Amino acid sequence: MSKDNKLNHIGFIMDGNGRWATSRGLTRTQGHKEGLKALENLIKVLAEDSSVKQASFYCFSTENWSRPALEVKTIMGLLKDFLQNDIQKLWENSIEVKIKGDLSEKSPFDNNLRSLLLAVNDKKLEEPKLIVNLCINYGGRDEIIRATKTLIAKGLEVTEENLESEILQADLPLDLVVRTSGEQRLSNFLLWQSAYAEFIFTDYHWPDINAEKYAELKDSFFNRDRRFGKV
Ligand code: IPE
Ligand code: IPE
Ligand code: MG
Repeated sequence: MSKDNKLNHIGFIMDGNGRWATSRGLTRTQGHKEGLKALENLIKVLAEDSSVKQASFYCFSTENWSRPALEVKTIMGLLKDFLQNDIQKLWENSIEVKIKGDLSEKSPFDNNLRSLLLAVNDKKLEEPKLIVNLCINYGGRDEIIRATKTLIAKGLEVTEENLESEILQADLPLDLVVRTSGEQRLSNFLLWQSAYAEFIFTDYHWPDINAEKYAELKDSFFNRDRRFGKV
């Protein structure tokens, strides 16, 4: 039986690119490339789903900088390529993209990549059919700390409302968080926004996600009993 749940905002912890690749005798780089393709395909599917207004994707955490330098360089290269060649297609398809994460001068991006990321946040669409948040150099704790510091600097009281206006920009609360690849943890993803989210952990790796698997995730979500603290 389907419940009256709303799937306004869905989040994905895109895990398992490396394991997907090594289990096939491929390099981790190939895993990240396939992961990016899967992301682009899934965004197309989500854009055609009128129930979903926002989708957030965990692309690179504040902790992921501690990976081997070559892997970090590869991921940043793929990101740059996406921003230079592929993001335009999303805009043409009425999909607005926001980068969530620390893009300040002290962030470890090179200057060229940092300006490409900042330019994405300047691009606003009239009536987007989907808003995609890409969480890059993102950490949930870092986001809450930065928002709190902003409130203090502005002399505002630290309340949920004020914090939300700083943290979320225009985020909706997360209704569903999906993590691929079997690990059952948040790894510092959208901590504030996931307070009342449903969670699904899948055994398959990120590059294997597709329209059919998304339909299964939705099915499972719409059968959850969400109570929000009530009876
Ligand atoms: C997710 O896949 C992509 C990033 C974190 C950038 P992983 O690279 O974490 O893949 P596994 O977990 O090692 O398989
Ligand atoms: C979480 O995956 C971050 C992203 C998907 C970008 P990780 O692979 O970095 O998380 P852990 O290390 O398994 O917790
Ligand atoms: Mg991982």
